[in-house]
Amino acid sequence: MVELPGLLPELEVVRKDFPILERSLAGGLPLVYLDSANTSQKPQIVIDTMVDHLERHNANVARAMHQLGAEASAAFEEARDTVAAFLGAPSRDEVIFTKNASEALNLVANTLAWAKGDRKIGEGDVVVTTEMEHHSNIVPWQLLTERTGATLRWFGLTDDGLLDLSNIDELITERTKVVTFTWVSNMLGTINPVAEITRRAHEVGALVVVDASQAAPQLPIDLAGMPETDRPDLLVFTGHKTVGPTGIGVLWGRREVLEALPPFLGGGEMIETVRMEGSTYAGIPHKFEAGTPPIVEAVGLGAALTYLGHVGMEHIHAHERAITGYAFEGLATVPGLTVLGPGDPAVRGGAISFELEGVHPHDVAQVLDVRGVAVRAGHHCARPAHARFGVQSSTRMSSYLYTTPAEIDALIEALHYTRSYFKVG
Ligand SMILES: Cc1ncc(COP(=O)(O)O)c(C=O)c1O
Repeated sequence: MVELPGLLPELEVVRKDFPILERSLAGGLPLVYLDSANTSQKPQIVIDTMVDHLERHNANVARAMHQLGAEASAAFEEARDTVAAFLGAPSRDEVIFTKNASEALNLVANTLAWAKGDRKIGEGDVVVTTEMEHHSNIVPWQLLTERTGATLRWFGLTDDGLLDLSNIDELITERTKVVTFTWVSNMLGTINPVAEITRRAHEVGALVVVDASQAAPQLPIDLAGMPETDRPDLLVFTGHKTVGPTGIGVLWGRREVLEALPPFLGGGEMIETVRMEGSTYAGIPHKFEAGTPPIVEAVGLGAALTYLGHVGMEHIHAHERAITGYAFEGLATVPGLTVLGPGDPAVRGGAISFELEGVHPHDVAQVLDVRGVAVRAGHHCARPAHARFGVQSSTRMSSYLYTTPAEIDALIEALHYTRSYFKVG
């Protein structure tokens, strides 16, 4: 294997933890999975933990008065502890389980419209987002501002795919109620300066909502370790990108903020009392977890984050940087290939979107697939970011803790083949 500084030293051992990486594709081709920003693969421990939970501990949580109910409740709440530790959250009660990151963002946007007092967003207020967001962090705010008469504004992007912060003081003003942005872009790979933007937003009393869906899988996060001025007020991520299962997401919020927000969904277990005339609500986190929650998914997420913790988020980050740097070198050898986003791999996450002159991204992905290389093609739910760079769609490779330099070599070789197949250049 190519020796790169920063690669996980136990890479072959890590790969063995992911059974899917051992399967072959049609024609006996080995799988080269470069679509982890879309969804990550799952280690055996996550699969086993979920199966064990279903086989031995399955019951509803917080309402079943029997041993299995107690075991299921304990496993579910233990998963909350694990998430809190993973984020370095000041308190476990500040961790709310949702279906995914999208639901968490919708929860925040809707409850801000329904809130009473200072937090309420209404006519005349401004929400600031960015042009590089995933649709999940644009559309909920469009719905919110359209319904309330508030205004949506956004940071533009520089030509090299960074947030253009040159007008930060004009964008974030006394009228700004919320500033929301992605920590790491799923399309451009850009890692955004969370502290700098958060500090400015806090100067004007705005709430900061960070979409950590692409950050949580690859960057160490320590909320409690951040200075208060730089710490976001709310942060979301989605379980399936952090080697966990689908169907589970996380909203972390500062206690005072969550306590000031009204419930999102009504139903079982989010109440204190219910009378026909009206209801009162449970405290956080249960106020935001109506109905039977995604129990086995939460348990699986707990196992996933524990696994990432054992590998070490610092090591995973270093691995992503090493692989990204190596991929940059390889991509530079493919004539007619243009990478979108920052040119410096050191300031990027592990997602690289690119164009190949003369070949449609869907065709690129299809030819790569025939060679066993799985990538994503399309707008990656980031249409505005594509429009900013004058492209409809792109091809995206995305690596993770199990990606090897040899897999990057396979991608590069397949891209050269794609060019010859389509006779471009
Ligand atoms: C940056 C970012 N935000 C939000 C999401 C939405 O995640 P989910 O579909 O799990 O809600 C994604 C998923 O691709 C993402 O990359």
